[in-house]
Amino acid sequence: MLKRAAAVIAFIGLMAGFAYAGSGAGTGINGSMHDINSAAGYTGDVLQRSCVFCHTPHNAQANGSVPAPLWNHAPSAVTLAPYTWAAPANQPIAFNTDPLIGPSRLCMACHDGVTAVDSHGNGGLGNSAASGTTLMTSHYTDGIGGNAKRFITDLTVTHPIGFLYQDALNERGSNVEIVPASNKFITGATSELYAANFDTKNRTIATDGKKISDTLYGGYMTCASCHEVHNTNNAKPDAGHSYNYFLLAKEEGSAICLSCHIK
Ligand code: HEC
Ligand code: HEC
Ligand code: HEC
Ligand code: HEC
Repeated sequence: MLKRAAAVIAFIGLMAGFAYAGSGAGTGINGSMHDINSAAGYTGDVLQRSCVFCHTPHNAQANGSVPAPLWNHAPSAVTLAPYTWAAPANQPIAFNTDPLIGPSRLCMACHDGVTAVDSHGNGGLGNSAASGTTLMTSHYTDGIGGNAKRFITDLTVTHPIGFLYQDALNERGSNVEIVPASNKFITGATSELYAANFDTKNRTIATDGKKISDTLYGGYMTCASCHEVHNTNNAKPDAGHSYNYFLLAKEEGSAICLSCHIK
C-alpha cells in the first residue's frame, strides 16, 4: 500500500482527486478521502486501521479542554476570529468565544494546515502518543477537477459556524427564512427542486437522514452541520457528476443550502 503510494506520487498532482472520486459518496469511511491509509502521501497505520487516525477504543487523547469522541489525533491549537455577519438581520446573532466549538475543532486537527494529518496515537497498541509529521498541502484536485483548498485558516471568509441555530431562528423566524431544526436534509430529486411549482416554503420534497438538530453541537452550527465525516449519510451526486465533499445533501439545485435556507 505504502509502496504503491510512493510509486504514483509523481502523478498525484492531477490524479489524486479522480482516484478518491472513485470511492463514491455515502459508502462509508473505508476507501474514502477520510481513510488516511488510502490517501497518498501520508504514513499509513501499521495495521491498516482506518478509524485509528481519529479514534481509539482506549487511552484517548484530550482535545484541548473540550470533550471529544475517543479522540486519537493531535489536537488543533489554532485560534480563529469568527465570521462577521453581513445581513443586518443577523447581526444580533452572537458567536461562541471559540467559534470552532464542537466537531469543528476536530476537523481542524487536520484541516488547519498546521497539524499533521497522520499524527495519530497508536491507540490500542500500548500508548497514545501522536506520531506522523505530514501536513496537508494547500490544494488538491477535487472530484470535478477543480483546484480545491484543503485547509481553512480564516473563518471570516467561510460559512458562519459557532453560533446557535436557535438564535438564527429567533432573528429570522421559524419557516420564514430558515427551516426549523427538526427538518431533515433534502434528498428529493433535483428535477423537483428545479420545477416551476417547487414551493421552497412548504417543501413538498423528500427529506431523509439526519435532522438539522442531529448535526448541531449543543445547538451550535459546526462543520458537521453540512459535512458528514464518515461518508455514511453523504449525498450521491446526480448522474454525470463526480464529487463527494462529504455533504449531507446534494450540490445540484443547491439542495445542501436549501435544506436550511428558505430562498
Ligand atoms: C477523519 C477522522 C475520522 C475517522 C477516520 C473516523 N471518525 Fe468517527 N468521528 C469523527 C468526528 C470528527 C466525530 C464527531 C463529529 C460528528 O459526530 O460528526 C466522530 C464521531 C464518531 C462517533 C460518535 C458520533 C456518531 O456519529 O454517532 C462514532 C461512534 C464514530 N465516530 C465512530 C467511528 C468509527 C467506527 C470509525 C472507523 C470505521 C470512525 N469513526 C472513523 C472523525 C472520524
Ligand atoms: C485525520 C485527519 C482529518 C480529519 C480529522 C478530518 N479530515 Fe477531512 N480530509 C482529510 C484528508 C487527508 C482529506 C483528503 C485531502 C488530501 O488528500 O489531503 C480530507 C478531505 C476532506 C474533504 C474534501 C472531500 C472531497 O470529496 O473533495 C472535506 C469536505 C473534508 N475533508 C471535511 C472534513 C470535515 C468537515 C471534518 C470534521 C468533521 C474533517 N474533514 C476531518 C483529513 C481529515
Ligand atoms: C454551510 C455548509 C458548510 C459548512 C458549515 C462547512 N462547509 Fe465545507 N463545504 C461545503 C460545501 C457545499 C462544499 C463543496 C464545495 C463548494 O460547493 O464550494 C465544501 C467543501 C469543503 C472542502 C473541500 C475543499 C473545497 O474548498 O471545496 C473542505 C476541506 C471543507 N469543506 C471543510 C470544511 C471545514 C473544516 C468546515 C468547518 C471549519 C466546513 N467545511 C464547514 C459546505 C460547508
Ligand atoms: C445546517 C444549516 C445551513 C446550511 C446547510 C447552510 N446554511 Fe447558510 N446559514 C445558516 C444559518 C442558520 C444562517 C444565519 C441565518 C440566515 O442568514 O438566514 C446562515 C447564513 C448564511 C448567509 C448569510 C451570512 C451573513 O453574512 O449574513 C449566507 C449568504 C448563507 N448562509 C449561505 C449559504 C449557502 C450558499 C449554503 C450552501 C452552500 C448554506 N448557507 C448552507 C444555516 C445553514
